[in-house]
Amino acid sequence: MSEILKKKVAEHALKYVPKDTIIGIGSGTTIRYFIEALKSIRFSILGAVSSSVKSSNFLKRINIKLYNLNEISKLEIYIDSADEINHNLEMIKGGGGALTQEKIISSVSKKFICIVDESKFVKKLGSFPLPIEVIPISLNYVSRELIKLGGHPKHRKNFVTDNGNFIIDVFHLNFDFPKKLEKFINNISGVVTVGLFSFRKADVLLVCGRKYFKVVY
Ligand code: 5RP
Repeated sequence: MSEILKKKVAEHALKYVPKDTIIGIGSGTTIRYFIEALKSIRFSILGAVSSSVKSSNFLKRINIKLYNLNEISKLEIYIDSADEINHNLEMIKGGGGALTQEKIISSVSKKFICIVDESKFVKKLGSFPLPIEVIPISLNYVSRELIKLGGHPKHRKNFVTDNGNFIIDVFHLNFDFPKKLEKFINNISGVVTVGLFSFRKADVLLVCGRKYFKVVY
């Protein structure tokens, strides 16, 4: 069922794509549906900045011109999904491991449009483990620091990010003060990016449920 909802919300998101612009594009299965849908309006956009090798490959297949973020100083919109998003539009991202590029590209974008199926729209963040991208030699050090914070870190086995780094998935963290948590984890040496998006949260959320479709600002 969630695949159908992901596809629906992805198709709906086309309405938010401005003409004659370069758009920022996230990663994951929901975004895969969005890229499929983008095929129908590909001549009305100038191109895309992609957040992962996988998304770049899908975009290339449908002949969408790819830009390097360094060629661009601002983007009108960034479209991506999330692993969890709360009512304040703060998110946990990085289930697919592309969190670093996602955070960078969304930071350059005026508007972050998040598209999810209803299972990801939550009252409280934290059922989904928090992904953190780390420099490989810092794996054990960062894990020890996360234990001190009350978390249960788990190295994502057999996974290397597009940047050549590792991912630690952290269970049982307390998300009562998301900004404080994001800042604290960002400050641990060896952490490249934490998949908590509380500073660069979404601006618009599209949620597709079995019985409803919601837009949250
Ligand atoms: C990838 C992400 C994705 O947005 C997140 O994992 C959701 O993925 P999916 O659409 O496959 O459920 O943050 O790093």
